[in-house]
Amino acid sequence: MTRSQRRSAILGTGSELPTRVVTNRDLEKMVDTSDEWITVRTGIKERRVLESGKGNADMAFQAARRALADAGMEAKDLNAIIMGTVTPDYPFPSSACVLEDMLGARNAFSFDVGAACSGFLNALSVADSFIRTGQIDNALVIGSDALSRLLNWQDRATCILFGDGAGAVVLGATENGSGILSTKLRTDGSYVKTLYVPAGGSLKPATAETVRQNEHTITMNGKEVFKIAVRSMEEVSRQALAKASVDVEQISLVIPHQANRRIIVALAERLGVGMEKVMVNVDRYGNTSAASIPVALDEAKRQGRIKPGHIVLLNAFGAGFAWGAAVVKF
Ligand code: ACO
Repeated sequence: MTRSQRRSAILGTGSELPTRVVTNRDLEKMVDTSDEWITVRTGIKERRVLESGKGNADMAFQAARRALADAGMEAKDLNAIIMGTVTPDYPFPSSACVLEDMLGARNAFSFDVGAACSGFLNALSVADSFIRTGQIDNALVIGSDALSRLLNWQDRATCILFGDGAGAVVLGATENGSGILSTKLRTDGSYVKTLYVPAGGSLKPATAETVRQNEHTITMNGKEVFKIAVRSMEEVSRQALAKASVDVEQISLVIPHQANRRIIVALAERLGVGMEKVMVNVDRYGNTSAASIPVALDEAKRQGRIKPGHIVLLNAFGAGFAWGAAVVKF
Protein backbone atom coordinates (compact mmCIF):
# COMPACT_ATOMS: atom_id res chain seq x y z
CA MET A 1 0.00 0.00 0.00
CA THR A 2 1.59 3.30 -1.02
CA ARG A 3 1.27 6.25 1.31
CA SER A 4 -0.70 8.32 -1.22
CA GLN A 5 -3.49 5.71 -1.52
CA ARG A 6 -3.79 5.14 2.19
CA ARG A 7 -6.77 6.86 3.81
CA SER A 8 -8.84 6.54 7.00
CA ALA A 9 -12.32 5.11 6.61
CA ILE A 10 -15.11 5.44 9.17
CA LEU A 11 -15.66 1.82 10.19
CA GLY A 12 -18.22 2.40 12.93
CA THR A 13 -20.14 5.12 14.76
CA GLY A 14 -21.85 5.43 18.15
CA SER A 15 -23.40 8.05 20.37
CA GLU A 16 -24.74 8.63 23.86
CA LEU A 17 -27.13 11.27 25.15
CA PRO A 18 -27.95 11.61 28.84
CA THR A 19 -31.51 10.57 29.73
CA ARG A 20 -32.46 13.80 31.54
CA VAL A 21 -34.36 16.11 29.17
CA VAL A 22 -34.59 19.86 29.87
CA THR A 23 -37.27 21.49 27.70
CA ASN A 24 -37.74 25.15 26.85
CA ARG A 25 -40.76 25.07 29.18
CA ASP A 26 -38.46 23.92 32.01
CA LEU A 27 -36.17 26.89 31.26
CA GLU A 28 -39.14 29.28 31.39
CA LYS A 29 -39.31 28.43 35.09
CA MET A 30 -35.63 29.22 35.63
CA VAL A 31 -34.97 32.41 33.60
CA ASP A 32 -36.96 35.17 31.88
CA THR A 33 -37.39 33.44 28.52
CA SER A 34 -40.05 31.66 26.49
CA ASP A 35 -40.38 28.55 24.37
CA GLU A 36 -41.30 30.84 21.47
CA TRP A 37 -38.19 33.05 21.79
CA ILE A 38 -35.85 30.06 22.01
CA THR A 39 -37.56 28.21 19.14
CA VAL A 40 -37.60 31.21 16.79
CA ARG A 41 -34.04 32.38 17.55
CA THR A 42 -32.32 28.99 17.76
CA GLY A 43 -34.59 26.12 16.65
CA ILE A 44 -33.88 24.36 19.96
CA LYS A 45 -36.83 22.70 21.77
CA GLU A 46 -34.99 20.61 24.34
CA ARG A 47 -31.54 19.47 25.40
CA ARG A 48 -30.01 16.69 27.52
CA VAL A 49 -28.19 17.25 30.81
CA LEU A 50 -25.74 14.81 32.38
CA GLU A 51 -26.80 13.65 35.82
CA SER A 52 -24.62 14.76 38.72
CA GLY A 53 -22.01 12.25 39.83
CA LYS A 54 -21.22 11.36 36.23
CA GLY A 55 -18.44 12.78 34.06
CA ASN A 56 -17.56 13.25 30.45
CA ALA A 57 -15.90 9.83 30.13
CA ASP A 58 -19.09 8.07 31.28
CA MET A 59 -20.86 9.40 28.18
CA ALA A 60 -17.84 8.83 25.96
CA PHE A 61 -17.61 5.22 27.16
CA GLN A 62 -21.13 4.38 25.96
CA ALA A 63 -20.59 6.11 22.62
CA ALA A 64 -17.24 4.33 22.18
CA ARG A 65 -18.68 0.92 23.07
CA ARG A 66 -21.37 1.37 20.37
CA ALA A 67 -18.87 2.59 17.77
CA LEU A 68 -16.61 -0.40 18.45
CA ALA A 69 -19.54 -2.82 18.16
CA ASP A 70 -20.62 -1.13 14.91
CA ALA A 71 -17.07 -1.55 13.56
CA GLY A 72 -16.89 -5.16 14.78
CA MET A 73 -13.80 -4.36 16.80
CA GLU A 74 -12.62 -4.84 20.37
CA ALA A 75 -11.05 -2.15 22.55
CA LYS A 76 -7.78 -4.11 22.82
CA ASP A 77 -7.36 -3.75 19.04
CA LEU A 78 -7.30 0.07 19.19
CA ASN A 79 -4.02 1.85 18.39
CA ALA A 80 -5.14 5.31 19.59
CA ILE A 81 -7.91 7.18 21.39
CA ILE A 82 -8.22 10.87 20.57
CA MET A 83 -10.97 12.85 22.25
CA GLY A 84 -12.19 16.33 21.40
CA THR A 85 -13.44 17.94 24.61
CA VAL A 86 -13.29 21.11 26.69
CA THR A 87 -15.01 19.52 29.66
CA PRO A 88 -12.67 16.70 30.73
CA ASP A 89 -13.41 14.78 33.92
CA TYR A 90 -10.37 16.38 35.57
CA PRO A 91 -8.09 19.35 34.75
CA PHE A 92 -5.60 16.55 34.10
CA PRO A 93 -4.99 13.83 33.02
CA SER A 94 -7.04 13.70 29.85
CA SER A 95 -10.52 12.17 29.61
CA ALA A 96 -9.07 10.01 26.82
CA CYS A 97 -6.91 8.36 29.52
CA VAL A 98 -9.96 7.83 31.74
CA LEU A 99 -11.77 6.31 28.77
CA GLU A 100 -8.79 4.09 27.86
CA ASP A 101 -9.05 2.52 31.31
CA MET A 102 -12.84 2.14 31.16
CA LEU A 103 -12.59 0.40 27.80
CA GLY A 104 -9.51 -1.65 28.70
CA ALA A 105 -7.85 -0.36 25.52
CA ARG A 106 -4.38 -1.14 26.82
CA ASN A 107 -2.67 -1.04 23.43
CA ALA A 108 -3.81 2.49 22.61
CA PHE A 109 -2.08 5.80 23.29
CA SER A 110 -4.64 8.41 24.31
CA PHE A 111 -4.97 12.16 24.55
CA ASP A 112 -7.51 14.99 24.44
CA VAL A 113 -7.75 17.77 21.88
CA GLY A 114 -9.24 21.09 23.08
CA ALA A 115 -10.95 23.00 20.28
CA ALA A 116 -14.44 23.54 21.76
CA CYS A 117 -17.19 23.01 19.16
CA SER A 118 -14.53 22.09 16.56
CA GLY A 119 -12.98 19.51 18.87
CA PHE A 120 -14.25 16.50 16.98
CA LEU A 121 -13.02 17.73 13.60
CA ASN A 122 -9.63 18.59 15.08
CA ALA A 123 -9.39 15.14 16.69
CA LEU A 124 -10.51 13.50 13.44
CA SER A 125 -7.88 15.38 11.47
CA VAL A 126 -5.10 14.40 13.91
CA ALA A 127 -6.14 10.72 13.86
CA ASP A 128 -6.39 10.82 10.06
CA SER A 129 -2.82 12.14 9.84
CA PHE A 130 -1.50 9.34 12.09
CA ILE A 131 -3.25 6.77 9.91
CA ARG A 132 -2.32 8.26 6.54
CA THR A 133 1.34 8.43 7.51
CA GLY A 134 1.29 4.78 8.55
CA GLN A 135 2.07 5.39 12.23
CA ILE A 136 -1.13 3.61 13.28
CA ASP A 137 -3.75 1.47 11.55
CA ASN A 138 -6.84 2.56 13.48
CA ALA A 139 -8.13 5.06 16.04
CA LEU A 140 -11.15 5.76 18.18
CA VAL A 141 -12.11 9.42 17.72
CA ILE A 142 -14.56 10.95 20.19
CA GLY A 143 -16.33 14.24 20.59
CA SER A 144 -17.72 14.47 24.10
CA ASP A 145 -18.74 17.47 26.18
CA ALA A 146 -20.80 18.32 29.22
CA LEU A 147 -21.21 22.07 28.75
CA SER A 148 -24.07 22.03 31.27
CA ARG A 149 -21.24 22.02 33.83
CA LEU A 150 -20.01 25.39 32.52
CA LEU A 151 -23.37 27.17 32.34
CA ASN A 152 -24.66 30.01 34.43
CA TRP A 153 -28.26 28.82 34.78
CA GLN A 154 -29.29 32.42 35.53
CA ASP A 155 -27.94 33.75 32.21
CA ARG A 156 -30.75 33.42 29.66
CA ALA A 157 -28.42 34.35 26.78
CA THR A 158 -26.33 31.20 27.20
CA CYS A 159 -28.11 28.58 29.33
CA ILE A 160 -30.75 27.97 26.65
CA LEU A 161 -28.21 27.04 23.96
CA PHE A 162 -26.22 24.08 25.22
CA GLY A 163 -26.63 20.41 26.06
CA ASP A 164 -24.51 17.36 26.88
CA GLY A 165 -23.61 14.32 24.79
CA ALA A 166 -20.92 12.15 23.23
CA GLY A 167 -20.30 10.74 19.76
CA ALA A 168 -17.60 8.37 18.54
CA VAL A 169 -16.20 6.97 15.32
CA VAL A 170 -13.73 4.16 14.70
CA LEU A 171 -11.28 4.98 11.92
CA GLY A 172 -9.34 2.30 10.08
CA ALA A 173 -6.79 2.38 7.25
CA THR A 174 -8.19 1.70 3.80
CA GLU A 175 -6.97 1.76 0.22
CA ASN A 176 -10.30 1.25 -1.56
CA GLY A 177 -10.79 4.91 -2.52
CA SER A 178 -13.24 5.71 0.29
CA GLY A 179 -12.50 7.42 3.60
CA ILE A 180 -11.55 10.93 4.66
CA LEU A 181 -10.80 12.75 1.40
CA SER A 182 -9.74 16.01 3.04
CA THR A 183 -9.74 18.02 6.25
CA LYS A 184 -9.18 21.73 6.71
CA LEU A 185 -8.73 23.43 10.09
CA ARG A 186 -8.66 27.16 10.85
CA THR A 187 -8.21 29.41 13.90
CA ASP A 188 -8.41 33.12 14.75
CA GLY A 189 -7.26 33.68 18.33
CA SER A 190 -8.14 37.38 18.29
CA TYR A 191 -11.68 36.28 19.24
CA VAL A 192 -10.70 34.37 22.41
CA LYS A 193 -12.82 36.58 24.66
CA THR A 194 -15.87 36.57 22.39
CA LEU A 195 -16.71 33.11 23.71
CA TYR A 196 -14.85 31.76 26.73
CA VAL A 197 -14.81 30.74 30.37
CA PRO A 198 -12.87 33.50 32.19
CA ALA A 199 -11.63 31.59 35.26
CA GLY A 200 -10.44 28.13 36.26
CA GLY A 201 -7.30 28.09 34.11
CA SER A 202 -3.73 29.07 35.02
CA LEU A 203 -4.36 32.77 34.44
CA LYS A 204 -7.19 32.98 36.94
CA PRO A 205 -7.36 29.89 39.16
CA ALA A 206 -10.48 29.16 41.18
CA THR A 207 -11.04 31.30 44.28
CA ALA A 208 -14.11 31.99 46.35
CA GLU A 209 -14.32 35.33 44.51
CA THR A 210 -14.22 33.79 40.98
CA VAL A 211 -17.01 31.45 42.01
CA ARG A 212 -19.04 34.31 43.48
CA GLN A 213 -18.58 36.32 40.27
CA ASN A 214 -19.73 33.36 38.11
CA GLU A 215 -16.43 33.42 36.22
CA HIS A 216 -16.38 29.64 35.76
CA THR A 217 -19.26 29.79 33.33
CA ILE A 218 -19.56 30.57 29.62
CA THR A 219 -19.36 34.23 28.58
CA MET A 220 -20.40 34.96 25.00
CA ASN A 221 -21.15 37.69 22.48
CA GLY A 222 -23.78 35.70 20.59
CA LYS A 223 -24.34 38.17 17.74
CA GLU A 224 -20.64 38.28 16.89
CA VAL A 225 -20.39 34.47 16.99
CA PHE A 226 -23.40 34.12 14.71
CA LYS A 227 -22.09 36.50 12.06
CA ILE A 228 -18.60 35.05 11.82
CA ALA A 229 -19.74 31.40 12.17
CA VAL A 230 -21.79 31.41 8.97
CA ARG A 231 -19.20 32.96 6.68
CA SER A 232 -16.28 31.01 8.21
CA MET A 233 -18.03 27.65 7.87
CA GLU A 234 -18.89 28.40 4.26
CA GLU A 235 -15.31 29.38 3.47
CA VAL A 236 -13.67 26.41 5.17
CA SER A 237 -16.20 24.01 3.59
CA ARG A 238 -15.30 25.32 0.14
CA GLN A 239 -11.59 24.95 0.98
CA ALA A 240 -12.06 21.32 2.12
CA LEU A 241 -14.14 20.52 -0.97
CA ALA A 242 -11.50 22.02 -3.27
CA LYS A 243 -8.77 20.04 -1.50
CA ALA A 244 -10.79 16.86 -2.09
CA SER A 245 -11.64 17.84 -5.70
CA VAL A 246 -15.34 17.46 -4.86
CA ASP A 247 -18.09 19.77 -6.15
CA VAL A 248 -20.98 20.92 -3.97
CA GLU A 249 -23.36 18.98 -6.27
CA GLN A 250 -21.60 15.71 -5.39
CA ILE A 251 -22.39 16.03 -1.67
CA SER A 252 -25.07 13.61 -0.45
CA LEU A 253 -25.31 15.05 3.05
CA VAL A 254 -23.98 18.00 5.05
CA ILE A 255 -23.53 17.40 8.76
CA PRO A 256 -22.90 20.82 10.29
CA HIS A 257 -22.12 21.61 13.89
CA GLN A 258 -25.51 21.91 15.61
CA ALA A 259 -25.44 25.32 17.31
CA ASN A 260 -28.47 27.12 15.97
CA ARG A 261 -30.94 26.22 13.22
CA ARG A 262 -30.64 29.73 11.76
CA ILE A 263 -26.85 29.32 11.40
CA ILE A 264 -27.41 25.95 9.66
CA VAL A 265 -30.04 27.34 7.26
CA ALA A 266 -27.89 30.38 6.41
CA LEU A 267 -24.88 28.11 5.80
CA ALA A 268 -26.88 25.78 3.54
CA GLU A 269 -28.13 28.77 1.53
CA ARG A 270 -24.61 30.14 1.07
CA LEU A 271 -23.30 26.72 0.02
CA GLY A 272 -26.24 26.22 -2.35
CA VAL A 273 -27.34 22.98 -0.68
CA GLY A 274 -31.04 22.19 -0.15
CA MET A 275 -32.11 21.60 3.47
CA GLU A 276 -33.18 18.05 2.53
CA LYS A 277 -29.45 17.32 2.27
CA VAL A 278 -28.62 18.81 5.69
CA MET A 279 -28.68 16.89 8.96
CA VAL A 280 -30.42 18.79 11.77
CA ASN A 281 -30.99 17.55 15.33
CA VAL A 282 -30.31 20.79 17.23
CA ASP A 283 -34.05 20.88 18.08
CA ARG A 284 -33.61 17.81 20.33
CA TYR A 285 -30.09 18.22 21.76
CA GLY A 286 -29.11 21.91 21.55
CA ASN A 287 -25.42 22.65 21.06
CA THR A 288 -23.44 19.69 22.43
CA SER A 289 -20.07 21.26 21.49
CA ALA A 290 -17.55 18.62 20.32
CA ALA A 291 -20.24 15.92 20.41
CA SER A 292 -22.57 17.56 17.94
CA ILE A 293 -21.07 16.30 14.65
CA PRO A 294 -20.39 12.68 15.68
CA VAL A 295 -23.84 12.42 17.34
CA ALA A 296 -25.51 13.73 14.16
CA LEU A 297 -23.33 11.47 12.01
CA ASP A 298 -24.34 8.43 14.04
CA GLU A 299 -28.03 9.38 13.81
CA ALA A 300 -27.79 10.00 10.06
CA LYS A 301 -26.19 6.58 9.59
CA ARG A 302 -28.85 4.84 11.66
CA GLN A 303 -31.59 6.67 9.74
CA GLY A 304 -30.16 5.27 6.48
CA ARG A 305 -29.20 8.73 5.21
CA ILE A 306 -25.60 7.63 4.55
CA LYS A 307 -24.97 4.80 2.10
CA PRO A 308 -21.81 3.34 0.55
CA GLY A 309 -20.45 5.75 -2.06
CA HIS A 310 -22.04 8.82 -0.46
CA ILE A 311 -19.87 11.89 0.05
CA VAL A 312 -20.55 13.72 3.32
CA LEU A 313 -19.39 17.22 4.28
CA LEU A 314 -18.75 17.90 7.98
CA ASN A 315 -18.19 21.45 9.23
CA ALA A 316 -17.90 23.16 12.60
CA PHE A 317 -17.28 26.51 14.23
CA GLY A 318 -16.69 27.43 17.85
CA ALA A 319 -14.70 29.12 20.59
CA GLY A 320 -11.20 30.22 19.72
CA PHE A 321 -12.44 30.98 17.18
CA ALA A 322 -11.60 27.54 15.81
CA TRP A 323 -13.40 26.10 12.82
CA GLY A 324 -12.97 23.40 10.22
CA ALA A 325 -14.43 21.01 7.68
CA ALA A 326 -13.91 17.47 6.44
CA VAL A 327 -15.03 15.63 3.31
CA VAL A 328 -15.67 11.92 3.81
CA LYS A 329 -16.53 9.24 1.25
CA PHE A 330 -18.40 6.23 2.64
N1 ACO B 1 -35.02 34.71 26.08
C1 ACO B 1 -35.61 35.90 25.83
N2 ACO B 1 -34.91 36.99 25.47
C2 ACO B 1 -33.57 36.84 25.34
C3 ACO B 1 -32.90 35.63 25.60
C4 ACO B 1 -33.70 34.55 25.98
N3 ACO B 1 -33.17 33.33 26.23
N4 ACO B 1 -31.59 35.83 25.39
C5 ACO B 1 -31.42 37.10 25.03
N5 ACO B 1 -32.60 37.72 25.00
C6 ACO B 1 -32.90 39.11 24.67
C7 ACO B 1 -31.71 40.00 24.80
O1 ACO B 1 -31.54 40.42 26.14
C8 ACO B 1 -32.07 41.14 23.89
O2 ACO B 1 -32.96 41.98 24.56
P1 ACO B 1 -32.88 43.57 24.35
O3 ACO B 1 -33.18 43.78 22.88
O4 ACO B 1 -33.94 44.07 25.26
O5 ACO B 1 -31.49 43.96 24.70
C9 ACO B 1 -32.84 40.44 22.76
O6 ACO B 1 -33.27 39.18 23.30
C10 ACO B 1 -32.01 40.19 21.54
O7 ACO B 1 -30.79 39.60 21.94
P2 ACO B 1 -29.68 39.23 20.91
O8 ACO B 1 -28.50 38.67 21.63
O9 ACO B 1 -29.45 40.39 20.01
O10 ACO B 1 -30.44 38.07 20.10
P3 ACO B 1 -29.98 37.33 18.82
O11 ACO B 1 -30.99 37.43 17.79
O12 ACO B 1 -28.56 37.65 18.44
O13 ACO B 1 -30.01 35.81 19.31
C11 ACO B 1 -28.50 34.08 20.02
C12 ACO B 1 -29.16 35.41 20.37
C13 ACO B 1 -29.58 33.04 19.90
C14 ACO B 1 -27.55 33.74 21.14
C15 ACO B 1 -27.76 34.23 18.67
O14 ACO B 1 -26.97 35.38 18.66
C16 ACO B 1 -26.89 33.04 18.40
O15 ACO B 1 -27.35 31.94 18.23
N6 ACO B 1 -25.56 33.25 18.30
C17 ACO B 1 -24.64 32.16 18.12
C18 ACO B 1 -24.17 31.73 19.45
C19 ACO B 1 -23.75 30.31 19.50
O16 ACO B 1 -24.24 29.48 18.77
N7 ACO B 1 -22.82 30.03 20.38
C20 ACO B 1 -22.44 28.68 20.60
C21 ACO B 1 -21.01 28.47 20.50
S1 ACO B 1 -20.31 28.88 18.98
C22 ACO B 1 -21.03 27.85 17.93
O17 ACO B 1 -21.27 26.76 18.30
C23 ACO B 1 -21.29 28.30 16.56
